[in-house]
Amino acid sequence: MKAKVSVIGAGNVGATTAHLVVQSGIADVVLFDITEGIPQGKALDLAEAAPLWNVASSITGTNDFSDTRDSDIIVITAGFPRKPGMSRDDLLHANADVIRKVVAGTSALSPGSIYIIVTNPMDVMTQIAWTVSGFDSGRVIGMGGVLDASRFRTFISLELGVSPEDIETLVLGGHGDSMVPLPQYTTVKGVPLKEFLGHERIADLIHRARNGGAEIVALLKTGSAYYAPAASTFQMIKAVLLDEKRLLPCSALLRGEYGHRDVYVGVPVILGKNGVEKIIELPLAKDEALQFDKSAHAVKSMVETASANEQK
Ligand code: NAI
Ligand code: 2OP
Repeated sequence: MKAKVSVIGAGNVGATTAHLVVQSGIADVVLFDITEGIPQGKALDLAEAAPLWNVASSITGTNDFSDTRDSDIIVITAGFPRKPGMSRDDLLHANADVIRKVVAGTSALSPGSIYIIVTNPMDVMTQIAWTVSGFDSGRVIGMGGVLDASRFRTFISLELGVSPEDIETLVLGGHGDSMVPLPQYTTVKGVPLKEFLGHERIADLIHRARNGGAEIVALLKTGSAYYAPAASTFQMIKAVLLDEKRLLPCSALLRGEYGHRDVYVGVPVILGKNGVEKIIELPLAKDEALQFDKSAHAVKSMVETASANEQK
């Protein structure tokens, strides 16, 4: 029997993720949204593309959580974008509410599934999803570092005129302004980045990677990036379904690693059929460790704000 992936939220990231999964043929897909017609229409459109891709995956569009029953993976992209006049806290509370509802509606139907959370602020939403699901923390994972690292690789590739395939890097910390790109773990075909670029140029590329999401929002004007976010989510789905044991930066619950406890934040993990199978602890330079701490504290403080609001 084929694996089953449910994608919650049939907007830009959700529909593009569904597209990648259907096209790969590795799983059947359920696309869920609260808006009637949208998931059904996009699912039918994808089903009509499947013969052209020579795949036989089934794809269902729905507004009913019961269609997600027995999923192997549930990807959550549902939520609201930030609107004019809306503060970060307003967005936090609105999306926290969506995540609580979606996890409450899906976790009992798929008790053996793995959640991949995309909705922003992603690390906070992942922690809320873990709390509401009651799942083992390794089965609730956030997507951010894969995207941030892909952006950093792109900018290095453009700067050096070298294929991005030959660039390896890691970006840790929360997915947001306080992310921590790690030039010391960045190589071009195994050669350290500092052999190719000076300190100031590397700092410029780090700045561009940190600002990668905002750069696209400024260009699109309505909405945010979705091709690279969906490709990043698909890389995680594939690592789990095919038990690839990939080493990828993902938001995972820390239990003392990197000096932090009970907080979801981006770290290198081994991703396989059980979700996060191991967290890899790397030595960080002093300034990187300080940035990581700042990032983890920012996530903790938002988790507290969201939980205080829920109790009101
Ligand atoms: P979008 O607005 O295109 O899609 C969101 C969808 O969620 C809409 O179709 C909406 O109807 C649906 N939705 C809202 N409430 C729902 C509920 N209660 N149940 C089910 N569906 C619901 O947004 P887009 O571009 O797809 O982004 C989705 C989220 O992913 C945003 O929070 C965005 O900030 C985040 N994001 C995170 C990235 C990351 O690296 N973690 C990268 C890109 C986007
Ligand atoms: C991004 O980085 C908005 O988190 C989203 O593009």
